[in-house]
Amino acid sequence: MSLPNHFELLATNGTARTGRLTTPHGVVQTPAFMPVGTAGAMKGMHWREVRDAGADIVLGNTYHLMLRPGAERIAALGGLQTFTGWNGPMLTDSGGFQVMSLSDLRKVSEKAVTFRSHIDGAKVELSPERSIEVQRLLGADIAMQMDECVRLPATRDDIERAMRLSLRWAERSKRAFESAPDGNMLFGIVQGGDIPEMRHINARELVDIGFHGYAIGGLAVGEPQAVMLAMIEETAPALPVDRPRYLMGVGTPEDLLEAVARGIDMFDCVLPTRNGRHGMAFTRFGQINLRNARHADDPRPLDEESEWPSARNISRAYLHHLVRSGETLGAMLLSEINVAYYQHLMQGMREAITAGTFETFQEQTRAGWAKGDI
Ligand code: GUN
Repeated sequence: MSLPNHFELLATNGTARTGRLTTPHGVVQTPAFMPVGTAGAMKGMHWREVRDAGADIVLGNTYHLMLRPGAERIAALGGLQTFTGWNGPMLTDSGGFQVMSLSDLRKVSEKAVTFRSHIDGAKVELSPERSIEVQRLLGADIAMQMDECVRLPATRDDIERAMRLSLRWAERSKRAFESAPDGNMLFGIVQGGDIPEMRHINARELVDIGFHGYAIGGLAVGEPQAVMLAMIEETAPALPVDRPRYLMGVGTPEDLLEAVARGIDMFDCVLPTRNGRHGMAFTRFGQINLRNARHADDPRPLDEESEWPSARNISRAYLHHLVRSGETLGAMLLSEINVAYYQHLMQGMREAITAGTFETFQEQTRAGWAKGDI
């Protein structure tokens, strides 16, 4: 049975789309990039900077928050938005993906995944039902079904087994979600690795179950960009036109431009903050590594035309010094500069789609990156 639709498609330009997703904590303009605040914090940034940078929505993780400080505690403290002070739309990932990448001694069964906590070694079980319960306790505006993602390359058998399990977990997630409707949303996740047929089957069956929106998972997990884009081209047309489409864990600015061109509406990725902590800046001229000695005497800012003050006003020489000295401020400044650049890019895409000039926008943006850091 289909769930109510909170997404409004405002304009399309070729396959690219712009729209508006209305959540209980506010409106999200799409295409949207969600910065990742894994454990209830954006690493190196205040929430007010995240908001000022233009983010409408952020991502939190079931896995981390259920282990520490605990979902029941966050619920008692008023939910994640109140607890953290972000107070805006939040999407939470369902946990399975993080179990696979972060915990030890994990075991996947039909019923649940069991694993040892990366914090204190405690044995924990996470089922699709418990994942929905945790996401409800957290107060996620958008909850994700629990799924199993396989790294690529993988065998056809492994891809099909994980895809079928994810579909059964999708049904259980939906049932658990519907047992106590609360005005929030639930997204299904399409798996299927790099096999078009699996993607089609998964998308079709997921749409039959019916979700508020649909994610494409199992990508950016070891495959070349061309394979990722091909899988988006296979999957997106199989999803309902009037529902939001979310590409999980992606990506670089280049990935975002290409994926929006193929009809994706939402993204999340740790890249802007993680790379910022490692001395990298994302700019109109591509990525700039501030560690590099050539910046030591450079009085120029990263981008004198940027709307973001730290990108416009702070010298490359100072950023280089902060990064080389291991100063916390270097990581903080580059995180905000990068999140602001990602949001600027999304805004540019939204405006270009509305104006019907997305192709020109793509060409100009690519030309800026190709010109490089001058
Ligand atoms: N984050 C990045 N990729 C995935 C995926 O395939 N599934 C889930 N749940 N989260 C992800």
